Amino acid sequence: MRIDGKHYRSVWVDEDGWTVRIFDQTRLPWALDVLRLTDEEQVAHAIRSMQVRGAPLIGAVAAYGVALALRRDPSTAGLDAAVAMLGRTRPTAVNLAWAVGRMRAALHNLPPGERAAAAYAEAASIADDDAETCRRIGAHGLPLLREIAEARPSGGTVNVLTHCNAGWLATVDWGTALSPIYQAHDAGLPIHVWVDETRPRNQGAALTAWELGRHGVPHTVVADNAGGHLMQHGRVDICIVGTDRVARNGDVANKIGTYLKALAARDNGVPFWVAMPHSTLDTGAADGVSGIPIEERGAEEVTDLTGRTADGRMETVRVVPEGSPAANPAFDVTPARLVSGLITERGRCEASEAALLALYPDKA
Ligand code: MRU
Repeated sequence: MRIDGKHYRSVWVDEDGWTVRIFDQTRLPWALDVLRLTDEEQVAHAIRSMQVRGAPLIGAVAAYGVALALRRDPSTAGLDAAVAMLGRTRPTAVNLAWAVGRMRAALHNLPPGERAAAAYAEAASIADDDAETCRRIGAHGLPLLREIAEARPSGGTVNVLTHCNAGWLATVDWGTALSPIYQAHDAGLPIHVWVDETRPRNQGAALTAWELGRHGVPHTVVADNAGGHLMQHGRVDICIVGTDRVARNGDVANKIGTYLKALAARDNGVPFWVAMPHSTLDTGAADGVSGIPIEERGAEEVTDLTGRTADGRMETVRVVPEGSPAANPAFDVTPARLVSGLITERGRCEASEAALLALYPDKA
């Protein structure tokens, strides 16, 4: 990913060879602060508080959390405790369980003295795999955007609607839903993105808008409720969103509000595509509505809003009357029947058990 011409990843190891660096996403877009993580508790806090967020990224950062834990305690009990503790930090994105499970599998048979170095190598491999996976998702999604552009005799801008942030800030690099958009933009296709603000935490308004802007991709932030209206008036050519967990039957969990966009897309004949890396497929969940745990987050994310004041301070204000309770389900499930297809690193496929298992026989 590029920020004003410079290449970054969303997680990296410091020059000292062991501390882990991330951007503090709770400070974006107002400040680009880099955090230094030195133990697994700091990693767990960063994931819970959403200093890092996005399904693939929390998996990669948790993998580095296991490596940090093993520097202090490389015993089997230490490994198991770190894997269990980090795996519990957020429930919906299956990438987290996938990544710490992969760490445990790679390390538990090694002598304790070799585990820390091997853990850093395995975490780096998970990060590299994610960056390459997301690049390929972009390559497989790009033809969808090209087809829309070419179907227009006069050219004309391709309007994409996206929800939440499934860009490079949510992954190690490239993003999932935004990867085809970046690749289309870089290939010279005229692209414009409708960015859902994504209440309650505003990942669209704060993060997607910021990263698209840094890359120079034209975009417009809209209130979450605007998508149906835009689709009704022919102003959305395609929806592309990310996902935190795809069930065996093709049901897709993603940020709360995704389901409503899929319903509006179906009603208006707008294609609704979901970008899915292999680490997000959970063939152990037979269907999404009953099989995917939905994270409930604190009510204060709904009752309060954080922004920047005119004089440049970050401030949090309450927007709900004192005494009114608030509920905060953080994800919802879009049934497979509303999904036009999945864009994966292995190609595009239907959102169905047969198509998923044909593409991922290794996960059957
Ligand atoms: O709560 P968040 O910000 O971690 O939720 C992120 C999303 O819902 C993303 O769309 C999803 O993780 C896919 S990221 C490539």
